[in-house]
Amino acid sequence: MKGIILAGGRGTRLHPITLAVSKQLLPVNDKPLIYYPLSALMLAGIRDILIISTPVDLPQIQRLLGDGAQLGLSLRYARQQEPRGLADAFIVGADHVGDDPVALVLGDNVFHGHRFDDILQEQARDIDGCVLFGYPVTDPERYGVGETDAAGKLISIEEKPARPRSNRAIVGLYLYDNEVLDIAKNLSPSARGELEITDVNRDYLERGKARLVDLGRGCAWLDAGTPASLLQAAQYVSALESRQGVRIACIEEVALRMGFIRAEECRELGERLAPSDYGRYVCAVAEEFAAHSTVPHP
Ligand code: DAU
Repeated sequence: MKGIILAGGRGTRLHPITLAVSKQLLPVNDKPLIYYPLSALMLAGIRDILIISTPVDLPQIQRLLGDGAQLGLSLRYARQQEPRGLADAFIVGADHVGDDPVALVLGDNVFHGHRFDDILQEQARDIDGCVLFGYPVTDPERYGVGETDAAGKLISIEEKPARPRSNRAIVGLYLYDNEVLDIAKNLSPSARGELEITDVNRDYLERGKARLVDLGRGCAWLDAGTPASLLQAAQYVSALESRQGVRIACIEEVALRMGFIRAEECRELGERLAPSDYGRYVCAVAEEFAAHSTVPHP
C-alpha cells in the first residue's frame, strides 16, 4: 500500500502564525506536526510515501525529512499549486499510487493510542473499497460526519453538516483501493470549488463499499488546525510524554520498532540530534532496543 500525506493548504485558521511558516512544520510539543501523520502511516507498515504541499512550503518539508532513507522509507514530494481540495491528492499523486491501494492522511491530524497500529494494519490488509475511521466528538459540525445503523453499517456521510446525524467525526486518515484514482479524476468541484473527500467517500458508500471503523476510547485523535486545537494537541502530548517517559510519534523510534532500520542506525540518528532531549531519547531507545528489545511500544 502507498501513502500520501496532504500537507498543503493556506493554514488561514492559524494566521498570523502560518503567514511565513507551514502549518505542518509548527511544533506540537517537542516535534513538528508532520511527524504525527507520518508516524501513523509508518505504523500501518507503509514505507512508500508522497508528501504533497504548496510550492513555497515543500522545500522546507523536504529539508526536514529528506528522501526518507534514514528512516528506511522512500519519501517523494509533489506540489499542489492551489488548495483544490483533499481529493486532489489522488490527481496530484496518481503516478505515485500506480496500481496500488493507498492511505491518505492529512498533515494536521494527530493520532495516538492503544492498538492503533494493529487496527491500521488489520484494516489495510486486502482492502476492497474504502475504510474510514470514526471518532466521537462534541463538535461534529466541524468535520465529515458518519452515521451508522443499529448493526454498525455506515448509512450516511456528510461534510460539516449544520445538523449532524451523529457525533462520529470522520478522521483525516482514509484507506482506499485503487479505484479511488478514477473516482477522483471524475469528481466535480463542490459549491466551494473544491474536490471534496466526502464526495469520494459517498461514491464508495453508494456502491456498498465504504466501511466506518471506530477508533474507540483507547485512541486519541486531534486535528491541529486552529490555535486552540494546536495547543490542545501539544498539551496532550506533553502530559503523556512527561508522565510516561515515552515519546509519541518519534519517527526514529517507530522506524526502529517497525523493523525499517537497525538499532545502530537509530542511535546514529539520535546522536545527530543529541543536544536535545529528543535526540537523547532516540539514543536511549536504540541502546535499550539493542540490549533487550523489550521497551514499551510508542
Ligand atoms: O480533520 C478531519 C477533517 O478533515 C474531516 O473530518 C473532513 O471531512 C475533511 O474535509 C477535512 O476537513 P478540514 O476542514 O479539516 O479540511 P482542511 O480544508 O482544513 O484541510 C485539511 C488539511 O489538508 C490541512 O492541513 C490543509 C490540507 N489541504 C487542504 C486542502 C483543501 C491541502 O494540503 N490541500 C488542499 O487542497
